[in-house]
Amino acid sequence: MNVLILNGSPKGDRSNTIRIAKAFTEGFPEGTNIRRIDIYSKDIKPCRGCFSCWRNGDGRCVIKDDMEEIVSAIKEADVIIESYPLYFYGMPSQMKAVTDRCLQLVMPYMGEKSDSDLTFNEMKDPDMLNKHMVLISTCGYVEAEPVYPALLAQYDLMCGKGGYTAILCPEGEIFVTGQAKRQQEAYLDSVRAAGAEYASAFALSDETMRKIAIPILSPQSFCAITKSHWLDGHWIERNPAD
Ligand SMILES: Cc1cc2nc3c(=O)[nH]c(=O)nc-3n(C[C@H](O)[C@H](O)[C@H](O)COP(=O)(O)O)c2cc1C
Repeated sequence: MNVLILNGSPKGDRSNTIRIAKAFTEGFPEGTNIRRIDIYSKDIKPCRGCFSCWRNGDGRCVIKDDMEEIVSAIKEADVIIESYPLYFYGMPSQMKAVTDRCLQLVMPYMGEKSDSDLTFNEMKDPDMLNKHMVLISTCGYVEAEPVYPALLAQYDLMCGKGGYTAILCPEGEIFVTGQAKRQQEAYLDSVRAAGAEYASAFALSDETMRKIAIPILSPQSFCAITKSHWLDGHWIERNPAD
């Protein structure tokens, strides 16, 4: 099984979210081929909106940059994990650039919806519909429900309702505070178990979804820890700007 992790946090390896994606894939069986691409370290230009990929004979994008590597990796993957922080209720800009550049993977459409029950746009290669899509995201708020509806509505249109698995972790900033380690580890253990379950069925039970949706800390504890973390200067030490 080929698993592709698209790390869409500008913080690369220091990403809160990538800790969860790593734990999730640690639950996959031995022998799983896991490839990670940190998209912020790649040269990915924004889509020009020229529709050449819909008109060119080969259907490829005219921009020559690292998106070619990402498209090949997507084609090879059985499971695609998009791992990134919530930015203003949506995806970070480089992740949006990658998403827009995936226009080359979908069929031209002239105002008609695809026949597929799943996706709005028909895929050029029907095999794309056999891939398993996972969204893993952290946010700064203490609950996922109020802040994720716009992003989930976008995935419902892109992948179809039920066409993807979303693991949404509120209180993502707890990972950089160095506090509540026991609770962090307990959460990551649940995510590892979820990874094992996902690898065998490409789905998560309601019970598992419920378990990993529980915030790591109570809102009060999270607020107390993050406030002191921000105010005592540790934040600068643990999050260098470079
Ligand atoms: C530009 C920016 C926008 C953000 N927007 C939101 C938001 O809309 N809602 C929220 O709860 N957290 C928001 N956050 C907080 C991040 O989602 C949170 O810190 C996340 O855990 C960072 O993950 P990472 O370490 O993987 O990059 C924002 C952070 C930044 C830098």
